[in-house]
Amino acid sequence: MQTCHGIAELRASIRAWKGTGQKVAFVPTMGNLHRGHIELVRKARELAPRVVASVFVNPLQFGPNEDFDRYPRTLPEDQRQLAEAKCDAVFAPSVREMYPDGAQNLTRVSVPGLSSILDGEFRPGHFDGVATVVNLLLNIVQPDLALFGEKDYQQLQVIRRMVADLQLPVGIVGVATQRDIDGLALSSRNQYLSATERIVAPELYRTLLETANALRKGVRDFVFLEGGAVKRLQGAGFEPQYVAIRTKTLEIPATDTKEFVVLAAAQLGSTRLIDNLQVDAV
Ligand code: PAJ
Repeated sequence: MQTCHGIAELRASIRAWKGTGQKVAFVPTMGNLHRGHIELVRKARELAPRVVASVFVNPLQFGPNEDFDRYPRTLPEDQRQLAEAKCDAVFAPSVREMYPDGAQNLTRVSVPGLSSILDGEFRPGHFDGVATVVNLLLNIVQPDLALFGEKDYQQLQVIRRMVADLQLPVGIVGVATQRDIDGLALSSRNQYLSATERIVAPELYRTLLETANALRKGVRDFVFLEGGAVKRLQGAGFEPQYVAIRTKTLEIPATDTKEFVVLAAAQLGSTRLIDNLQVDAV
């Protein structure tokens, strides 16, 4: 596996592959890889003969009081896992390589509406930072396909919208959330949890399961269900930011909606956890 720190170097490899007609699948990450990320690479391998991953902790998508500085940076171990998963190239640029003139006057991509609800309400500017870097990465790599986890459901919607609106010539593939044995969605942030918090953490998933079951049984008082889920999380020791029952495209559902997604974000100690579950109540 090749590691490229520079854009020109990466583009040369990709140009050679494309020249021989090989399609490229791309998996953007912020590194500190776990089984969730590796599942994206595995899926990418199934879909294209060449796989490129990126490892870049993007300062644009972190708020001033968020964990940019303490976000775990583990490139050698990431390289080992990516090589084992038969990734062809990893792009690991510096902040300077990506934003040579700094972030101040950088051209931005913003997906209004979708970016200001749910997580966007609690993380102002976050999805603009994501859209901007993903657009830039897609322009650098110019892949045929790019894969994203459903774990970050709202992020996936923002990216689908950006790709559609900007007519970006790339197929977006969503990949199911990978979980630990007790249901906790895998996340690089799970390692911030203390041993006691780690025991409590899967309660977030169990709360989503309970809400999903109620929807499947035909309960349609969404406000009641969301309120119940918030109380359950509070009882378990979380500080919930939201529990929201939405349509698959994140609109407020109607009483005849059949396909839902239940999304939640909650603080557990100093760690912010998010999760979601899709529910087909047919
Ligand atoms: P990061 O959090 O590193 O996640 C990279 C990709 O892995 C995302 O598409 C995310 O949804 C997916 N992923 C994370 N945990 C997962 C899990 N448990 N199961 C399945 N997929 C999972 O998301 C980002 O980085 C950044 O915002 C990025 C898109 C790279 C832009 O900077």
